Amino acid sequence: TKIAIFASGSGSNYQAIMDAIKSGSLEASVELLVCDREDAFVLERAKREHTPIFQFDPKRYDSKFDYEKEITNVLYKHQVEFIVLAGYMRLIGDTLLQKFTNRIINIHPSLLPSFPGKHAVRQALQAGVKVTGVTVHFVDEGMDTGPIIAQEALKIDILDTEQTLAEKVHKIEHRLYPETIQLLLQKNEGVTP
Ligand code: GRF
Repeated sequence: TKIAIFASGSGSNYQAIMDAIKSGSLEASVELLVCDREDAFVLERAKREHTPIFQFDPKRYDSKFDYEKEITNVLYKHQVEFIVLAGYMRLIGDTLLQKFTNRIINIHPSLLPSFPGKHAVRQALQAGVKVTGVTVHFVDEGMDTGPIIAQEALKIDILDTEQTLAEKVHKIEHRLYPETIQLLLQKNEGVTP
């Protein structure tokens, strides 16, 4: 299955997916990296892995509709069937949602529906919950809403800081995301855009 990864940051989940493909545990090919920032480290990773990149600056477009139309064209050009958000810090709009219905997933560093948004790890610590985790879910028009596909819990230690907890969360993400994508793609086999 031809997939595209959307990312805005460091791209450790992009890397985990690439590594899973190389090791043979994930049967997919990453045809495109879509990135909305010019300074994101994921761009370096993608160059190293020879993944084609579509990098854009949302500020240069009049609206979300305009840039998503362009993204859609690039996705079609690369025959992308499935979109994986991996630290993409932007809401997906109607254009992409309509063209890729049930074909966009996201990973989030909490047990949704607790702690949606950009600061999930910090908020879990501040709330004093003793268990948090990772969620993989289908993307809809909301922020970190949409049907849940997979979750994994982890215990918060009294000594955890935002940094140590983020590291534990990432470790789970890097295993859970490739595994979940593989399961989903197996189920969806034969479906074309
Ligand atoms: C991950 O924690 C993911 O759950 C969240 O953004 C972070 C991306 O990290 N949506 P990275 O760029 O893959 O390292």
